[in-house]
Amino acid sequence: MDLHAMDLYIKSLIKEAGHRICNSFLTDITIESKSNANDLVTNIDKEIEQFFIGRIRRDFPGHRIFGEEGFGDDIQTSEGVIWMLDPIDGTMNFVHQKRNFAISLGIFKDGVGQLGYIYDVVNDDLYHGVKGRGAYYNDEQMRPLMETVIAESIVAMNATWAVPNRYLDHEGTLQLIRDVRGMRSYGSAALELAYLASGRVDAYISMRLSPWDIAGGMVIAQEVGAVTTNFKGEPANLLKQDTFIAANPAIHQELLKKYIRLK
Ligand code: IPD
Ligand code: CA
Ligand code: CA
Repeated sequence: MDLHAMDLYIKSLIKEAGHRICNSFLTDITIESKSNANDLVTNIDKEIEQFFIGRIRRDFPGHRIFGEEGFGDDIQTSEGVIWMLDPIDGTMNFVHQKRNFAISLGIFKDGVGQLGYIYDVVNDDLYHGVKGRGAYYNDEQMRPLMETVIAESIVAMNATWAVPNRYLDHEGTLQLIRDVRGMRSYGSAALELAYLASGRVDAYISMRLSPWDIAGGMVIAQEVGAVTTNFKGEPANLLKQDTFIAANPAIHQELLKKYIRLK
């Protein structure tokens, strides 16, 4: 795989998709709900996924596509080249705020991340990573993460996990809130991973993420030395939904051992 040629191709594809999303601000969008009333999808999520799939199938016919809206392939195994795409990550923000959402794309070969992209469309900020060649913020190379401690860390996490819930012991979350310097919730897993990679937050924790939420961000985050696992400390799952933590290596173990307690 010629990573350099693919990188140029993907950047131009992502920017074109970004223009299409911006143009949608001038039109009426259709909003539906999926698994529950707060799980939103719009016609734009679907159109953007179909736009990517049309191009990928035309230009890379041997590759497979794992997309959130289901227009891609039925992916059960990780062999070959797979494009993992979330056309709009942060759809609730897209609908309510028209900002704080991103296009998220990861290219994996035989289960190994090769290229990762997170495009903050409204701010025209592109984060990308190339396996073994570093991570970039608008083409400026990002530095390796600096050592930190819990007391000086900012942790990104949805507030849901700080109230009693079925999955996580919320007392652990409350202790984390007391111990860290600050908590943040941005409402887009992809952006939260981009912020981790650029050192704006030191960890991102989520109970339920899908491969397309994390694939692009994982490639980027790993290039600056972040650790990405599920709550058991195993490599993050790229075939199905799972728990997920991405963190500065200096605090990853402590977060898992001391604060994250699955019920
Ligand atoms: C969601 C966002 C959100 C995260 C959810 C994801 P979507 O993706 O990343 O921040 O908490 O788990 O499903 O539905 O907006 O693409
Ligand atoms: Ca998503
Ligand atoms: Ca989405």
